[in-house]
Amino acid sequence: MKKTNETVVSGVRPTGNIHLGNYFGAIRNFVKMQEEQNCFFFIADYHSLTTHPNPKDLHGNVRRSLVEFLACGIDPEKATLYLQSDLPETAELYLFLNMYAYLGELQKVVTFKEKARKQPNNVNAGLLTYPTLMAADILIHRASKVPVGKDQEQHLEMTRTYARRFNNLYNTDFFPEPTAYNFGDQLIKIPGLDGSGKMGKSEGGNNAIFLNDEPKALRKKIMRAKTDAGPQEKNSPMSVEIANLFSLMEVLSKPEIVRQYKDAYNDCTIRYGDMKKQLAEDAVAFTAPFRERIEELSADRKYIAKVVNMGKEKARESARETIRRVREIIGFKAFTG
Ligand code: TRP
Repeated sequence: MKKTNETVVSGVRPTGNIHLGNYFGAIRNFVKMQEEQNCFFFIADYHSLTTHPNPKDLHGNVRRSLVEFLACGIDPEKATLYLQSDLPETAELYLFLNMYAYLGELQKVVTFKEKARKQPNNVNAGLLTYPTLMAADILIHRASKVPVGKDQEQHLEMTRTYARRFNNLYNTDFFPEPTAYNFGDQLIKIPGLDGSGKMGKSEGGNNAIFLNDEPKALRKKIMRAKTDAGPQEKNSPMSVEIANLFSLMEVLSKPEIVRQYKDAYNDCTIRYGDMKKQLAEDAVAFTAPFRERIEELSADRKYIAKVVNMGKEKARESARETIRRVREIIGFKAFTG
């Protein structure tokens, strides 16, 4: 397929394994986008330093994220897949952008305030300037589209502000003002298993279905998912817990299966145990190919090293050109004899 000349950038922090929420909310869309656009996807390992991980954990997490990205179908021949820390150009652009980032603005960022509350003993400058680093990630490739969730919208707004400030200050149109990539109706919400809302890893391992879950453990956590006392009257509205199970069924099971259980709910003959058994089998079948691929890739150190090097080369080519131009615009010029 012919690619458009639009550049897309997105990063994922190397925290934990990929769950169905990540997959349906983001990664599956990355896989589609790599066919049509010039895509840069990276593991945001610089960003993960705000919480001071130990070196061994850091490396393991980065490796696992990379393997899982690949297992999901990100194709290093189609997209540029790289590690953030392999681009020193990003760090340099971050330094420049910090000159246009004001303290008052940074302190008002919702994610900063939340993190500062969660880790009061470690409110470091990296945490404060998280949005500037994210802006550097995006602007280093002069991207115009950024596929991210709602929680990143404020960071993206700041990216646009820095791009605009730079452009105005130097009277240039060098940086585009990137916008969030909206998937429209393709965006599905994936609820967790504990009946509380969104699937997430911070809610604990039993709330999320991970792509590498072992079948036995996966069946067990689905069988433990919260339900209610059952419908008392025909066609009664669903409790959140039951609606969540149906939402999961909609993405994992065949439409006729979903219909069968909905009908059973509506005429009060439903047995939640049976429904969960069905959901568990469909979840196991859905995740199995991912889990196998993750295992295969994990063992293939050579291939992973090749992917990392290839991504680094491709990403640096684009980043070097941006930095060359930025230095020139700012006024760092070569002294010639
Ligand atoms: N902040 C993003 C998150 O927490 C991760 C990220 C870092 C990112 N840099 C980025 C996303 C650049 C898109 C573009 O999910």
